[in-house]
Formats: sequence, structure tokens, C-alpha cells
Amino acid sequence: MFSSNPPLGLYVHLPWCEKKCPYCDFNSHQSHSIPQQDYVDALLDDLEQDLPLIWGRRIESIFIGGGTPSLFSAESIDRLFSGLRSLLNFAPAIEITMESNPGSADTANYRGYRAAGVNRLSIGIQSFDDTRLTILGRVHDSNQAESAFVQAREAGFDNINLDLMFGLPGQDTAAAQADLAKAIELAPEHISHYQLTLEPNTLFHHQPPADMPDDDQCWEQQLACQAQLAEQGYRQYEISAYCRQNRVSNHNLNYWQFGDYLGIGAGAHGKITLAGEDRVLRRVRLRQPQAYLAKQGRDRISSEVELTAADLSFEFMLNALRLSEGFDSRLFHDNTGLTLNQVLPTLQQAQDKGLLNFHADKIRPTALGFSHLNDLQALFLQLQASKNRPFFESGQVITHN
Ligand SMILES: C[S@@+](CC[C@H](N)C(=O)[O-])C[C@H]1O[C@@H](n2cnc3c(N)ncnc32)[C@H](O)[C@@H]1O
Ligand code: SF4
Repeated sequence: MFSSNPPLGLYVHLPWCEKKCPYCDFNSHQSHSIPQQDYVDALLDDLEQDLPLIWGRRIESIFIGGGTPSLFSAESIDRLFSGLRSLLNFAPAIEITMESNPGSADTANYRGYRAAGVNRLSIGIQSFDDTRLTILGRVHDSNQAESAFVQAREAGFDNINLDLMFGLPGQDTAAAQADLAKAIELAPEHISHYQLTLEPNTLFHHQPPADMPDDDQCWEQQLACQAQLAEQGYRQYEISAYCRQNRVSNHNLNYWQFGDYLGIGAGAHGKITLAGEDRVLRRVRLRQPQAYLAKQGRDRISSEVELTAADLSFEFMLNALRLSEGFDSRLFHDNTGLTLNQVLPTLQQAQDKGLLNFHADKIRPTALGFSHLNDLQALFLQLQASKNRPFFESGQVITHN
């Protein structure tokens, strides 16, 4: 039984990009003419349908992701926020992040986003090496990447994340560290550092680029980069997330702590607790932007699933074990409505294997567990698979940078 609802965030998906990157499996679609007005109307209409589910609750964070949200004009983003403010109760210290691609960076636009209420910017840099940016199919070069950061600062952003990838074609450890050094020189508050993965349904999966580093080389890059970030004062608080002065991404932290979130926009996912009814719903919107735009009301939902106890305990662990500091056992009860007894045998098993520490109500992956997170999570997957439906219908890790 829930004693109260978990903290609530809002994710807004803007699904268009100037050009589709060959490694990307996000719900993003190449377009040269974005129906900005209609889409903002559709988003607000979409949100209205969900309001009965969150009556009286406060929004702690918002993430405008994509796709490339920075293709939307400052006027459109302002109109979106006027609508959101009229429908929702924003927390006084609300964190509002927006993703931006250096190819569409512009100081005037950045100022407009800032004025509309965006107070955290996430810039997709990927690399500062022009050859690799070309292989990655990016629409910008390294100068534009750097200048996007400078423009964001000029526009008043004092909380900026840079996305970087490693394990890139032709990249060795020295090159990965050189990318990171360039990012650190800019002194962003947050760095998201992802290993490039060849996702099914991407061009790179079908035609892998030449010279991809192997697993051992990627591991070497990761260890060297982790050490470099630590030396420069960036604390790793999640598998791919590093920050200075505790400027964590509150929005992502809420996902990893298994908080609630509304998801509006094409293909967006939401997870909402109805504490009074002791139920948790997972809702997904229609994925294709045109289909999403064409519909009204509940029709935009492509699936709604009520999570079972086994789903809840598995999904909680899948997310919370990504946190380097782990979590308090009370959080498990608060955000799943279950008692820890549900997962005690598996926690014990993980502890016996040296993957987890569990004492004084604190549960934390060991260094071994953190570096072999898949093995640790797999223990909880077995628990879920034995009790429930197949993994792909559940098992969500959502991260927005
Ligand atoms: C949805 S994108 C948003 C940023 C923006 N669209 C851009 O690319 O500049 C979020 C981030 O996910 C990371 N990403 C996307 N595809 C990836 C992949 N296949 N492997 C690793 N990281 C990936 C990239 O670092 C990217 O910046
Ligand atoms: S990586 Fe970013 S810019 Fe590239 S296609 Fe994906 S969402 Fe669009």
C-alpha cells in the first residue's frame, strides 16, 4: 500500500530533427517543416486528458526532449509554457531542461527559451573531433559545438549538460580523453558520457562503421574517462551521469528513484501512481508524429498497462541500482507501495555474489556490481520473469540527458 504518491515530473517529446543520425534509435524524424503551432496545441490537449490522473499534485521537474527541441522557435516554446503553467502546479524551484543540438544553436533563441522558463540546457556535443562528427552524421562541427555552449552561457544558462559519446569509430583512449578534456575546459555543470551502442533499427546496426573499438578497448576508455572526470571534480552519480557541485539532473534522478512522470508528445512514456487506488499505470503515446497530431483525447494513448507487484519491484531495481550511492530501503516502499520482503532473497543473492551491499537500511551496488550492472540487474530480471510477463512489456529505464 502506498502512503502517498511519489514525486512527479513531466516529459515532453518533440520528435523532429534536421537530419536523422545513423546511430540513433530515439523517436526522431527528419523534417524540414515542423508544424509547431499544431504540435503545441496537440501537446496541451494531450496533457488535459491526463489531468484527472494527477489532480492536486505538483510538478517538480520538466524535460523537453527529442528529437531536437531547439528546432522549435522561442515563441512556440513560450506558448507551450504558457499552456503548461495554466494547466499544472509548478514547484517553486522547478527544474526545466531542454535539449539542444549545436546545429540549431542561436543566442537569440537561447535567450527566448530562458525567458520562457527553461533553466537547464542539455547540448548534444557527442565529440569535438570533426572527422568523427562527420562519421556520426552530425549536422554540426566542433566549432559550432563549442560556440553553442558559449552562446548558452551568454543567454544566461548557469546549468548546462553536455552529452558526449565514447567508443566511437576509430577512437582510442587518448582521443576519448581529448574529447572529454575539451568538454571539461568549458566547465559545464553536468556531463553525460555514453558508450556508443549499435542499436537495432539504426543504419549503424545494419552497416556498422569501420574501426569500432572492441569491448576491451571501450572498457579501457571508460575507466580512463571516469578517472579523468573524478580528477576534475565531476562526481559520477549514475552509470553515465557526472556533475559538479551536486548539480544533478533532478528530472533523471526522479526516473532512477522510480518517481512518477507524465509523458506527453509522440511516443512519450508516462508512469503514474494512483496511491488511493493502490495502482501504478504505464502509459505510452502514439509513436508516429502524424498519427499523434491527427488524434484527439484518449486516442493518443497506444498502450496502458497496470504494473504488477513483480513489475514494480523489478523496475525499481533496474533503475535505482544505476545510482552509485544506491538508495534507502524506505524509498522502495515509498515508490512501489511494496515491502522489501518482496525482493529480500534476491538482494541476499546479490550480496552473496559481492555485487551489492545491504546494511543499515541502505542498499548500494559494490564497485564490482556497478561495473557489472547487467549481471546485477539480471538477478532481478529472473525474479520478474518467473512471476510475470516477458521483459519487453515492462522493464523501463528512461534517461533524458
Ligand atoms: C535524444 S538525443 C538528444 C540530443 C539531440 N537530439 C542531439 O543529438 O544533439 C540524447 C543523447 O543520447 C545519446 N545517444 C543517442 N543515441 C545513442 C547511441 N546509439 N549510443 C549512445 N548514446 C546515444 C547522445 O549523446 C544524444 O545526445
Ligand atoms: S541523436 Fe539527436 S539529432 Fe541525431 S537523430 Fe537522434 S535525436 Fe536527432
